[in-house]
Amino acid sequence: MSGHIIQPDIIHEFLCLERGEGIYVYDKAGRKYMDAAAGVGVMALGYARKELADVLADQAMTIPYVHAMRFANQPSNDLANQIAEFAPEPLNWSFFASGGSEAMESALKIARQYFLQRGKPEKSRFIGRWQSFHGNTIATQSVGGHLGRRAPHQPMLINWPHIPPAYCYRCPFGLSYPNCDIQCAQALEREICWQGPETIAAFVAEPIVGAAGGATVPAPEYFPLVRQICDKYDVLFIADEVITGFGRTGKNFGIEHFGVTPDMIVTAKGISSGYAPLGALIVSDPVMAAFQTGSGKVDHNFTFAGNPLACRVGSEVLRLIEKEKLVEKAAARGKQLFAGLENFYRFPFVGDVRGKGLLAGIELVQNKEKKTPFPLEFHAYQKINELALDEGLIVYPGGGTADGYIGDHFLLMPPLIISEEEVDQLLTLLERVLTRFGALV
Ligand SMILES: Cc1ncc(COP(=O)(O)O)c(C=O)c1O
Repeated sequence: MSGHIIQPDIIHEFLCLERGEGIYVYDKAGRKYMDAAAGVGVMALGYARKELADVLADQAMTIPYVHAMRFANQPSNDLANQIAEFAPEPLNWSFFASGGSEAMESALKIARQYFLQRGKPEKSRFIGRWQSFHGNTIATQSVGGHLGRRAPHQPMLINWPHIPPAYCYRCPFGLSYPNCDIQCAQALEREICWQGPETIAAFVAEPIVGAAGGATVPAPEYFPLVRQICDKYDVLFIADEVITGFGRTGKNFGIEHFGVTPDMIVTAKGISSGYAPLGALIVSDPVMAAFQTGSGKVDHNFTFAGNPLACRVGSEVLRLIEKEKLVEKAAARGKQLFAGLENFYRFPFVGDVRGKGLLAGIELVQNKEKKTPFPLEFHAYQKINELALDEGLIVYPGGGTADGYIGDHFLLMPPLIISEEEVDQLLTLLERVLTRFGALV
């Protein structure tokens, strides 16, 4: 243990991962693990990709850094052009940051500036959802609604409103789809009206809630309704695709499953497949038109914005995603994965299996009929994590699933390059983990 590194746990030593290859990582002792979490939804192309190491080295020797406040650079121009092709129309403009939180922070500021351009300075507040996560900075944590992550900083957070999540397994309105009139979306209209539409700049939501919800998928009508409500009140819709972007769910972007186009997409993780810190804010033509016909200025930058090293990697990742048809593969492997996961409903503690493509969530319950979560003290998600590691499998466990406080789930989001045989192996390993977990409950 270094004794000098600040990590989320400074008492217990983390397992030190030393190297990776394909979808596998190896610890210092040489033990092999299947990384079914892809780091944390990051390693889309897998480990030890020479193409990515090569472009990094080449870019480092060409020009590793350019100050984006004052100069342009080719890799960031190229990546912005590629993303304009890859993202739905009319999302054609990109700002590059170093990760998801920075990209979301950029979205909030640029949404605000959009309304300044349009002479609506009061539109400066944001609506998020409970049981959501949008980043670890103060503003992104404020729009996020994960109680546990908000708790230590609660007094520092901005007092923005939240609506209940689109969480059919435990409907916050006590209703069941399709006899619910999509109350979770209707709640947005009520909140906008209560707050005063003239004060609300944007609504922020993940198309499929990843870590904070355990891959919760809303009803098909949810986002079309959200879009209608946002349009009615001149409120922007910001889709957080930090996890769901770049093919993870079997479409280029997760929101495409719902036939809706957001005004902004915030994305990161898979965009660089972990070979450089990178996030992107993708903005629509109409939003940028307000800047073009307005001041012509966007008042926002970071020292590492549009970094040539990171953007060059992003370009190569996108080229490989397209060349290797990884979006289509994620859809196909996802079908295989979900077909296998369905069998795990036979375990009495598997309450819900959900998600899309290669983003799968399994919610664990003590009593399946009553959907009773495990008591907090039982540490169900930590137990799954430990058993999985012991079986040589890395999953992404999470808590607070049921109400932000209690409830347990784990996510599977393996690299998009996972093969058919490897999905079968993943299911075999997971079956062992669940069988061992069953002996503890
Ligand atoms: C949905 C979502 N938004 C935002 C973020 C923040 O991204 P980052 O950790 O790269 O700052 C995350 C990170 O896990 C995320 O899952």
